[in-house]
Amino acid sequence: MIMIFGVVLAGGIGSRMGNVDKPKQYLLVGEKPIIIHTLERFYVQNEFEKIIVLCPEEWVSHTKNLIKKYMKDTERIVVLRGGDTRNETIMNSLRYIEKEYGLDDDTIVVTHDSVRPFVTQRIIEENIKYAKEYGACDTAVAATDTIVYSQDNVLISDIPDRSKMYQGQTPQTFGAKKLKELYLSLTEEEKEILTDASKIFVIKGEQVYLVEGEVYNTKITYPYDLRVAESLLNDPKNGK
Ligand code: CTP
Repeated sequence: MIMIFGVVLAGGIGSRMGNVDKPKQYLLVGEKPIIIHTLERFYVQNEFEKIIVLCPEEWVSHTKNLIKKYMKDTERIVVLRGGDTRNETIMNSLRYIEKEYGLDDDTIVVTHDSVRPFVTQRIIEENIKYAKEYGACDTAVAATDTIVYSQDNVLISDIPDRSKMYQGQTPQTFGAKKLKELYLSLTEEEKEILTDASKIFVIKGEQVYLVEGEVYNTKITYPYDLRVAESLLNDPKNGK
């Protein structure tokens, strides 16, 4: 039986946001914390067996309280501790799924940054559809700026053909069993350099299908992004 889990990644501390007293996923946009906006967009998808939220250990009880306060129905949400890296955070979700449900070839995880609150239902649905079909998929938008590659961060080494360049977003959606197997087959050095879960598939020669994202499915990273998020929140064209 196909089982699909939402995995909302909130294990980071948001160092690029600068001097704030809490990780960026807990900052308010409009009247609610960013992580709540994101969870609301996941919660309406009935296909999710559970939505697993992973955050720093010392924020687990705070996160549970926020969910109780802001969301009416919280039955399908579980809050767990994240890991030291983004991929380790994903692995914690897989450990939970394996323990509670077992992992088989039909278990799918839709992994998503807690700090991308403008993800749409269309994007989530296409992620599920293409993961079922191809085993792995990733959300991206065609690059608008020309991408310039510099090996040494001083001189330009290459300017790749823009029509083949994309900017990665999330969700990234995978067969859970395959993801675990591939991750476990990485060396420690490989694990250290891989911040991106799709790259685990790519370096092992596995196919990852491209799902079209949206320009406004942005990641809140810097203080500037918070101002953009505030205006997007009031924009009727921000998806849903
Ligand atoms: N993330 C996670 N576990 C980690 C690190 C990051 O779940 N150990 C999550 C973040 O909470 C965020 C997402 O991955 O939702 C994208 O990462 P990024 O924007 O880099 O978040 P931070 O690591 O928090 O930010 P920074 O790099 O500025 O410290």
